[in-house]
Amino acid sequence: MDSGSVVIVGGTSGIGRELAVEFAGRGRSVVVTGRDPDRAAAVAREIGGATTGLSVDLAEPDAIGRALAGVGPVRELVIAAIERDVNHIASYDLDRARRLVTLKLVGYPEVVHTLRDRLAADASIVLFGGLAKERPYDGSTTVSTVNGGVSGLVRTLACELAPVRVNAIHPGIIGDSPYWMDKPLEAFVGRTPIGRLVTMREIVEATIFLLECGGMNGTDLFVDGGWLLR
Ligand SMILES: NC(=O)c1ccc[n+]([C@@H]2O[C@H](COP(=O)([O-])OP(=O)(O)OC[C@H]3O[C@@H](n4cnc5c(N)ncnc54)[C@H](OP(=O)(O)O)[C@@H]3O)[C@@H](O)[C@H]2O)c1
Repeated sequence: MDSGSVVIVGGTSGIGRELAVEFAGRGRSVVVTGRDPDRAAAVAREIGGATTGLSVDLAEPDAIGRALAGVGPVRELVIAAIERDVNHIASYDLDRARRLVTLKLVGYPEVVHTLRDRLAADASIVLFGGLAKERPYDGSTTVSTVNGGVSGLVRTLACELAPVRVNAIHPGIIGDSPYWMDKPLEAFVGRTPIGRLVTMREIVEATIFLLECGGMNGTDLFVDGGWLLR
């Protein structure tokens, strides 16, 4: 019998949605969140099974506690939300940077703070960073910054929440994810020793490994096809 549900913050699109489909297919009770309540409810209906949708904006952290009031108990918590900016130091967009920094570096820990007393004894948490922390791309100034911050966050959370396990996953560019679907990717493909970009399926499998393997804790898992070697 399950000790809690699967909560996927940023579960209405991309990797978060793929994970929700996987867990719903296993018969688990799943909560997916996005910014808009109607969209979150519609995505939950599309996913089916025991999936519910709710809205929470991680860039407005004062409201996170209220938004998640009805959630729990929680066995798997995945925080994958992102509201990307395209930013450069030469033309620094303060408003966009402020939203993304707040979302990942204040919003992510505030979600964990809110749910901490509702985590099952065998709960596990995965936070999404990204390879941009090590390998910047054009416009990734804020993305690289916040994904670096996620590494520090998992270390302190793994200590503070023990024995609950907390890990970070850092995908390379995911070729079949909605964000990159309509963008030129040839230059990135040449940087991966496997000769292609990683897939959403591979990121789902790696996330489930981190959630389920009892020995994984406080780590940064790079899933990038070997891109880091170059
Ligand atoms: N895709 C990649 O190639 C890639 C590579 C490396 C790392 N990553 C990381 O993987 C994670 C998932 O990426 P993805 O490309 O799959 O994402 P995505 O398709 O862009 O989906 C983003 C999710 O975050 C939600 N969201 C957006 N703004 C939000 C806000 N202010 N507050 C709360 N939720 C918000 C969206 O919900 P609504 O739109 O419904 O509001 C959606 O569910 C991210 O953390 C990203 O940094 C992705």
